[in-house]
Amino acid sequence: MSAPAVELVTVNVDGREVQVPKGTGMIETALAAGVEIPVFCYEPRLGPPVGACRMCLCEVEGMPKLQAACTLTAQDGMELRSAQTSAKAAEGQNAVLEFILLNHPLDCPDCDKGGECPLQDLTFRWGPSNTRMHFPKRTFEKPIPISPTISLDRERCILCYRCTRFSEGVSEDLQLVAAHRGAQSIITTFEEEPYRAHFSGNVTELCPVGALLPSTYRFRARPWEIDNTPTVCGLCPVGCNTWATTREGKVQRILSRNHPEVDDGWLCDKGRFTFDHLRAEDRLREPLVRVRRRGFEAVGYDDAVREVARGLREAGGSVAIAFSGGETVEQASALARLVRQGLGGDAAILPDDLDPAVDAFRAPLSAIRDAEICLVLGDEPVMERAPIVDLWLRAARRAGAEVVTVGPAGSVSTPPGSAAATSAELAGGGGSDELRDAGRRLREASRVAIVWSGDDHDSGRRAATLAASLGLGDGSGLYVLPRSPNGRGVAQAWYEAGEGRGFDPSGEEELGALIVSGDEAAYDPRVAQLAERARFVFATSMFTGDHTLWAHVVAPGTSYLERDGTVVNLEGRAQRQRRVVDPPHLDELELLARVGTELGVPIAPWAAEATVDDHAELAPRAQLEAPPEFAPAASTNGAGPGLELVVYRPLFSGPGVERVESLAFQRPAPEIELAHADAQARGIATGDTVTVGLNGSGRALRAAVRRKLRPGVARIAAEHADGLGSHVEVTKA
Ligand code: SF4
Ligand code: SF4
Ligand code: FES
Repeated sequence: MSAPAVELVTVNVDGREVQVPKGTGMIETALAAGVEIPVFCYEPRLGPPVGACRMCLCEVEGMPKLQAACTLTAQDGMELRSAQTSAKAAEGQNAVLEFILLNHPLDCPDCDKGGECPLQDLTFRWGPSNTRMHFPKRTFEKPIPISPTISLDRERCILCYRCTRFSEGVSEDLQLVAAHRGAQSIITTFEEEPYRAHFSGNVTELCPVGALLPSTYRFRARPWEIDNTPTVCGLCPVGCNTWATTREGKVQRILSRNHPEVDDGWLCDKGRFTFDHLRAEDRLREPLVRVRRRGFEAVGYDDAVREVARGLREAGGSVAIAFSGGETVEQASALARLVRQGLGGDAAILPDDLDPAVDAFRAPLSAIRDAEICLVLGDEPVMERAPIVDLWLRAARRAGAEVVTVGPAGSVSTPPGSAAATSAELAGGGGSDELRDAGRRLREASRVAIVWSGDDHDSGRRAATLAASLGLGDGSGLYVLPRSPNGRGVAQAWYEAGEGRGFDPSGEEELGALIVSGDEAAYDPRVAQLAERARFVFATSMFTGDHTLWAHVVAPGTSYLERDGTVVNLEGRAQRQRRVVDPPHLDELELLARVGTELGVPIAPWAAEATVDDHAELAPRAQLEAPPEFAPAASTNGAGPGLELVVYRPLFSGPGVERVESLAFQRPAPEIELAHADAQARGIATGDTVTVGLNGSGRALRAAVRRKLRPGVARIAAEHADGLGSHVEVTKA
């Protein structure tokens, strides 16, 4: 079916004729004619215009009063005159600015927004050159920390409602509200609770004045002192595009760099605020070598390189790597070449090993918003694994899409770990009535988005099989959420460095050497088991942790803000990560090159592909070589005493987040989520202290009762699940 023809209309703006599709917003229409109309409240990503600030007043032929241009759309024959050609519009706009500045403190020299402030800029360009107001202005207590990361200065607020519209209509956290009326209106949090939400930091970028500012940036820099480097966030598999602001070689803040297909200009708070971990006091700054009985000793790089080379050489080809999935492609490739080509090893633990069949259904993340129906499968909350995907799903729902969630907390309730079996049922038209119905609607729709969020065995292959069986064509997309930020790029680098897939080094026999790459590698329980079997362990790491206790040599690692390289996000899009600041030591690639030289293994070149540029495009879909077939799903063993425990990895976790004090309030509370029926049967209500464990031993946690959770299932964040088995009994303490 061909797309309906677009009706073009002709509009005259300030005497310039322009043709645009009928219904185009007037701000964009004017821009197409080369005319800029100043705005404050207008922001199309926040939904329909609200016409709150009146900054965009224009004269429209045939209308007696000035009109807010942002609320108009292009109609054929429309004639509009902006303040640039209409004295009436200029007078109106001038008056609006004067009115906006009535109570504004004009503290630009002190204000952190000064120099980057739309109100300051527009006042200079369009506003009155002096003031007629010679009376005390309204004052408020300030700044008010509405959370540990955001400060509110009410005196500066111009009541454009961008922040509240974001909270209500984009992130849907409903926490920022406008209280009182008229001149008494103020922005506040609901019931004055701290603004605790995954995306709260976006309001600091949306605010067109210095009313909402990141507390972490207060008095840290002035605009003429800073550099902004375009890069890509390296903290989850979305790969949001960012600007990293530096002053005197230190990262001071992270801003969004809108990639409309990836992030739509939003960042989560982990990506925005975690940068302070670069300055953590316990950061490793020099290599450490284990000295018998004396623990670790700091050594120079020459000694460390010699020691690593010796350990790897003596491994006799029995070498494995545990990747963290945070490495750049270039880093992973250097490691893989060192081991596979240089040392004769062939074993790796890959945090993500997606089947390439998923690339046959590749689509930009923005296609989720345009889907008619979205299917979300798996146990892991999408918000915790790839937060921006959750925003795209919300946008889809608001645009009218049906969002079917299948899992232990889904709209279609299924047991934990059953995504593989459920996908086979969906494809084969089997399962419960709800599943059969969902399968039928998925087959009938022409634009479908499938999001797979879980670690079910072979999830990539199974997801691709489901997509093929549902006939996902152009306009539809499959998104399998990796566990790690660059898990896809790392796996690709590993496969390209040698023959075949290599093998997962499980087994009992002794291992000659293990390379643990990055702090996050230690989160995989397979790595600890491997370290116990290894004669020699070499770890690269920013901080000490469990993995450094196993190590014989530890080299200080870098953050993603200190690397230059390529990362591949969950869509399969290769993007460029830039070195924003220099690490306080040798980076991993330089170190590997030196180890390679010592071993006679050339592992350069490693320069990032110059072709992977600032707003990277998504490669075309791959050909599906043969339609994948469903392998029988391993039966999930839900049987056991008590409640089955689903453990998830929260977004606000990991060595970086743990070292940023202002993010402590975002970390998951020590609580366990219980299904309503299970809580009722035990006489438990939200907020109660409960004992969680088995056989009399247990720990005290707070209970949170969830209506959506499947009876018989309890859910908990990984950091509070240590030592708990797959099943627990929960009793009121
Ligand atoms: S705090 Fe900022 S974004 Fe919110 S209404 Fe005031 S000026 Fe607008
Ligand atoms: S969603 Fe992921 S990539 Fe984007 S800012 Fe957050 S952590 Fe970074
Ligand atoms: S930008 Fe048009 S009314 Fe605010």
